[in-house]
Amino acid sequence: MPAGPVEGAFRVVARHRFLPGLDLDRVYDAEAAIPTKREPDGEITSSSSAPAIMGLMLGDLAVEPSHRVLEIGAGTGYNAALLATLAGPTGAVTSIDLAPDVAAGAAANLVANGFAGVVVRAGDGWLGAADRAPFDRIIVTVGVPDLSPAWVAQLAPGGRLVVPLSLAAGVEAAVAFVRDGVRLRSLHLNPCGFMRLRGSHADPGWSGQDDGRAAFGRLGARRASGARGGRAAVATEAGAARAGTDEVTVSIGQLEVEAVPTAEFGSGPVGESDWVVARPSFTFLVRRR
Ligand SMILES: C[S@@+](CC[C@H](N)C(=O)[O-])C[C@H]1O[C@@H](n2cnc3c(N)ncnc32)[C@H](O)[C@@H]1O
Repeated sequence: MPAGPVEGAFRVVARHRFLPGLDLDRVYDAEAAIPTKREPDGEITSSSSAPAIMGLMLGDLAVEPSHRVLEIGAGTGYNAALLATLAGPTGAVTSIDLAPDVAAGAAANLVANGFAGVVVRAGDGWLGAADRAPFDRIIVTVGVPDLSPAWVAQLAPGGRLVVPLSLAAGVEAAVAFVRDGVRLRSLHLNPCGFMRLRGSHADPGWSGQDDGRAAFGRLGARRASGARGGRAAVATEAGAARAGTDEVTVSIGQLEVEAVPTAEFGSGPVGESDWVVARPSFTFLVRRR
């Protein structure tokens, strides 16, 4: 948990108020992601994310008083309450959930806990909230293999986007990006594991398999494969020479990512990249720091 305003927000907003009736030991277990909605087939479609990863993502998001903040995935409303605490009375928080019943529950929890100013919407978060833009900060609390062009368009210049991004099968990182024109550059990556974005933009153009392989030849990177436990296997020419194999394993925290609109990719220099992951909207140039 980063000390400072984020820790302060966790002290102010009680998680059990957003998860009524549950065992307090479980509610205050920092590593516990708690399922809150299950479909008839057993699939879990909403949860309260583990406070440990929430804290890391909020630390990277660096919400300041008076910021305009967008959250994708309202869930219980707990993270929105933390965001509202960080943005303060002059800030503005908007949170969107695809499921109308989940959005209604989040809104009720927020009102009951003194956060009536948070705007909660039912809808597809992939589209953002153009009428509430620009946003200083956007936080996505569902996993995606690509970035929505709407999020980037609705992010103020220099604004931050924190998003659980799947770079390959088994390699998911909560990437803190800063907007730099139409591109984004990562500040920091944390290993994570989030439920997937659903709706008509679910995993656009991505089968869940390691489709990035097709693009690896481009910069001489031959192969990258998924790995759990916060490490990614990344193949590089240099790494191969160093390690004597065609693959080196690095921790996710050692990576940096540049997101370039895929339509622009190829029109400019891409520099030295260890790994190129091409997705329909954005192409991710992954390098070791
Ligand atoms: C891990 S939960 C969010 C946790 C929440 N931030 C909290 O503090 O409790 C993910 C949520 O994303 C929602 N979701 C899934 N796909 C979505 C989409 N396309 N747009 C908006 N919300 C979506 C799910 O209904 C679920 O409630």
